[in-house]
Amino acid sequence: MSSSLDSHTSQTWGGRFSEATDAFVQEFTGSYSFDHVLAHYDIQGSRAHADMLAASGILSNEDLSDIHRGLTQVEDEIASGAFRWQVELEDVHMNIEARLTQLIGDAGKRLHTGRSRNDQVATDIRLYLRAAIESIRSQMTRLRTGLIDQAERYADTVMPGFTHLQVAQPVTFGHHLLAWNEMLARDDSRLADCSSRMNYCPLGSAALAGTSYNIDRHMTATALGFQAPTENSLDSVSDRDFAIEFTSAAAITMMHLSRMAEEMIIWTSAQFDFVDLPDRFCTGSSIMPQKKNPDVPELIRGKAGRVQGHLVALITLMKGQPLAYNKDNQEDKEPVFDAVRTVHDSLLAFADLIPAMSAKPASMRRAASLGHPTATDLADYLVRKGVAFRDAHEIVGTAVGIAESEGVDVAELSLETLQNLSTDITDDVFDVLTLEGSVAARDHIGGTAPKQVLAAAKRARDALNS
Ligand code: ARG
Repeated sequence: MSSSLDSHTSQTWGGRFSEATDAFVQEFTGSYSFDHVLAHYDIQGSRAHADMLAASGILSNEDLSDIHRGLTQVEDEIASGAFRWQVELEDVHMNIEARLTQLIGDAGKRLHTGRSRNDQVATDIRLYLRAAIESIRSQMTRLRTGLIDQAERYADTVMPGFTHLQVAQPVTFGHHLLAWNEMLARDDSRLADCSSRMNYCPLGSAALAGTSYNIDRHMTATALGFQAPTENSLDSVSDRDFAIEFTSAAAITMMHLSRMAEEMIIWTSAQFDFVDLPDRFCTGSSIMPQKKNPDVPELIRGKAGRVQGHLVALITLMKGQPLAYNKDNQEDKEPVFDAVRTVHDSLLAFADLIPAMSAKPASMRRAASLGHPTATDLADYLVRKGVAFRDAHEIVGTAVGIAESEGVDVAELSLETLQNLSTDITDDVFDVLTLEGSVAARDHIGGTAPKQVLAAAKRARDALNS
């Protein structure tokens, strides 16, 4: 009987080959150096597959117990670092199978009955991503909890709201933080959505066409916690759209984290001075003793670029592939693994940092008073007194011009000056011209009034805990 060991090569598939693989080609085509992170999921999949083979009468119970014993030892060896990875065994799947066979003999060779590395790897990545999404989402929950806590703490802290990065209208800091929470809530639901869409089991699709053994695909799907088996074997072994979808959700999340980072960087500058980040999240300069740099937000802003890059890599990887499996797909792993690590660690960093960030209400207030932030409130006041909005806009424009020439804010103009512009103005105008009056007036769902911020924070917390 010929075995792979008798052939010209030491590879598991060496039977039909008459010369050994070129050493560089071995390195070039090998993937164990990165796909070893799938080992745990590969073993999990093998256990479920073996159980199903035995239950279907394809594998003896004796072989099954040998396989379980062997897989446990392989798992221990990998965990302890004693496992010897071999480049000539190409990838995680064949490294594990070869070691298993070394440990338990022929039963190890029977494990691959009715499956292929093609359905095996498609299963492994799904299992890996499903777990990765779960741990990413738990960091997301920590971060969102921190944002909601801070929003309650700063529900009535007034800061300037910007459009075009020009002071526009006063808002509350709590409102701003809850805007971040909304962005992340959508990211979280994208992640959940992608996790449930990928939760179907490819095992049994074998190389591409299915298998001639009388297997039970429902059994493996259930054992591995999938919703059901996948429908079509060709599609199952070839498409990596789920990985693309995950990376897309990760890229959007990183884009949001990057926007948050950008604001924190601006806010910690001396010119803004809106927030303080604790020293433990910052670094100094080797030359300028006074510096305290917001490195964590800056790195997160930078790391958003690499995840965006991974998305482009993956979608490009897929676009030219005919059905079914192609080796191109081995290139899916490094981008996906890096996207997972990057988005997870970035969320973790912000989840630690946000609760420790403190606002500087006095500087926020000072900044909010620059640039006539309550001019719109004056126009709205006139409209309430019966002036048409366009006329009100014109009157307030004139008032702003006068204030500018006097070097004061529109809120500081005298009642007399204002009444010269419109006889509809009475002394209650100053209630709406204050920063507090302005934010309190935006008192509807989605508005910046402190009352609304507290109500929104409560809804956000309920949504998070539901
Ligand atoms: N390492 C391979 C991958 O990541 C496993 C599947 C290989 N299948 C094959 N027919 N060469 O895609």
